[in-house]
Amino acid sequence: MKKHLLVIEDDPIMRLGMSHFLTYQGYKLTVCADGGEGLDAVARGGFELIITDLKLPLHDGFEILERARAVAPAAGVIIITAYADVKSAVHAIKSGAFDYIAKPFSNEELLITVERFFNFQKLEEEVTILKEALRDKTGFDEIAGESPAMRVVFDRISVVAGTDVPVLILGESGTGKELVANAVHRMSKRSAKPFIKINCAAIPDTLFESELFGYEKGAFTGAAETRKGKLEFADGGSIFFDEIGDIPLSLQPRLLRVLEDGMITRLGGNVPIRVSVRGIYATSKDLREAIASGTFREDLFYRINVVPISIPPLRDRREDIPCLIDYFLKHFKERYDRPELTMSRSAYEALLSFNYVGNVRELKHAVERAVVLSKNSATIECVHLPEEIAGKMISGPCARKNLSLEESVRCFEKHRILTALNETHGKKIDAARKLGISRKVLWKKIKEYRIE
Ligand SMILES: Nc1ncnc2c1ncn2[C@@H]1O[C@H](COP(=O)(O)OP(=O)(O)OP(=O)(O)O)[C@@H](O)[C@H]1O
Ligand SMILES: [Mg+2]
Repeated sequence: MKKHLLVIEDDPIMRLGMSHFLTYQGYKLTVCADGGEGLDAVARGGFELIITDLKLPLHDGFEILERARAVAPAAGVIIITAYADVKSAVHAIKSGAFDYIAKPFSNEELLITVERFFNFQKLEEEVTILKEALRDKTGFDEIAGESPAMRVVFDRISVVAGTDVPVLILGESGTGKELVANAVHRMSKRSAKPFIKINCAAIPDTLFESELFGYEKGAFTGAAETRKGKLEFADGGSIFFDEIGDIPLSLQPRLLRVLEDGMITRLGGNVPIRVSVRGIYATSKDLREAIASGTFREDLFYRINVVPISIPPLRDRREDIPCLIDYFLKHFKERYDRPELTMSRSAYEALLSFNYVGNVRELKHAVERAVVLSKNSATIECVHLPEEIAGKMISGPCARKNLSLEESVRCFEKHRILTALNETHGKKIDAARKLGISRKVLWKKIKEYRIE
């Protein structure tokens, strides 16, 4: 279909010239001779591109531009300026015009500018489509887990993502609160806008206010220039208050006010600025306890606790462990370029049976470490695991599988030797010394247990 262009130009010769030329180039043209006709045409709509002179009878090009931005924001506007009035041209571009052409201009110049707009429009469409695709693809992609508990988490994320309601993410350290926060933002309609994170536990109380609200030049000693705060940076997007339980009590009323009326004032400033931000909060603390002990305000709690998403500790969803092991193994095999790497049965069982106090983070680090340490081996063995995890095998599988006493002892012995060899990077003299045996005995046992 032909692209529909609107040309508003009071000079009849120019109007005719442009109209003929662009029609000849394959565009559909509507022409207007003054600002009044122009505004009416803009209001009727249906144009992909509007080319308007700046100086016009009745209404000028700025008014045309303003109306076009309001009623047809997708349409492009090209401004024609007389005698290279650069100041007005810059102003027009700041107000949303695509570009300007200075009189006198050739047909080629006009055509290049028009085509540039349509190329730009095409790119913009492609970016939008890619972004959508990316959002679909990466929504939950990086959160592994199939337990009923995690399915509840995924459901919650899907439900809240499309809305602007505050989300409070609860869970022990290492359960994946930040991942969930990322997913909420990425799947929301604010995803193309900033996602600002603020770790309330890491900012000294004295800096909190200026971090959050920004400051005007001269607001305090050292404020050499005006700086935006995080709330202002997040405008249009989301802000993630990590460890919200650690926000200073003195600041809580101010934050609450911002959340209620959406207005902020920079330190040392007196002009309130409107911001539109979606709040995502996370804490590993029990906020009700904090309320009881007087470190967290109850009114703020109710403000942020609209939709809680609670991530259970890994020990309460052990059925996720196999899937997490697979996920991390695949991830780190790729990261460290080890496509052939496999995992031995005993290492897998050790990982499966461990009780992860540090939750998913601890499991993730264990797998990464194993991939790195098994550099000279085709298989991840128990020796490549952290001692506390591999050690579990001693009270775990070595003892568990109804082994006879002798078998248990052998299992234990083999494991101790493997650990010692691992700790000494395979140096047999050092390993023997560690184990309190002679090199000869160690050598014999290595052969006996077929340790590589
Ligand atoms: N379900 C999961 N799937 C994949 N990776 C996960 C999952 N849960 C957590 N992780 C990984 O574990 C690590 C810890 O997660 P995250 O930082 O989100 O935890 P947290 O709850 O914010 O912890 P903390 O309270 O200590 O800040 C990250 O590297 C994250 O990628
Ligand atoms: Mg975190």
